[in-house]
Amino acid sequence: MERTFVMVKPDGFKRGLVGEIISRFERKGLVLAEGKVMTVSRELAERHYSEHREKPFFGELVDFITSGPVFAMVWEGPDAVKNARSIIGKTNPADAAPGTIRGDFGLVVDYNVVHGSDSPESAEREIGLFFGNN
Ligand code: PPS
Repeated sequence: MERTFVMVKPDGFKRGLVGEIISRFERKGLVLAEGKVMTVSRELAERHYSEHREKPFFGELVDFITSGPVFAMVWEGPDAVKNARSIIGKTNPADAAPGTIRGDFGLVVDYNVVHGSDSPESAEREIGLFFGNN
């Protein structure tokens, strides 16, 4: 059994996509272990995205993720990290296959609806940041 961290970003939250997104993970068979509406502080955003600190889009990414409410979740199941990423689709919605969340609901990389951890190690780190280590 593995855990992963998934977050509906401010664009997805504002567009009322939380229910649709939860339902896609449930249909796949993953189990929702934690979920909460929250506003991400700049400090938390900078820690969450710390590996991208040197990227040219870092400032915009932090501005965007702190711009409104998000829905943060922990999902559990076999290969939860990989399974969640296949439901989410490629980072740039223009490359994401139809049937994935980003393929169906996104248009541009700056507003790509949802975040999913990219490895079991990142998942545990991100769950710790957003939910504490329990
Ligand atoms: S990289 O370079 O492969 O490590 O980056 P990637 O993992 O694809 O993306 C890291 C996060 O940055 C977001 N991203 C962007 N935001 C704004 N503008 C641009 N151009 C851009 N490119 C990537 C991307 O959505 C990732 O955020 P999360 O929340 O992990 O999806």
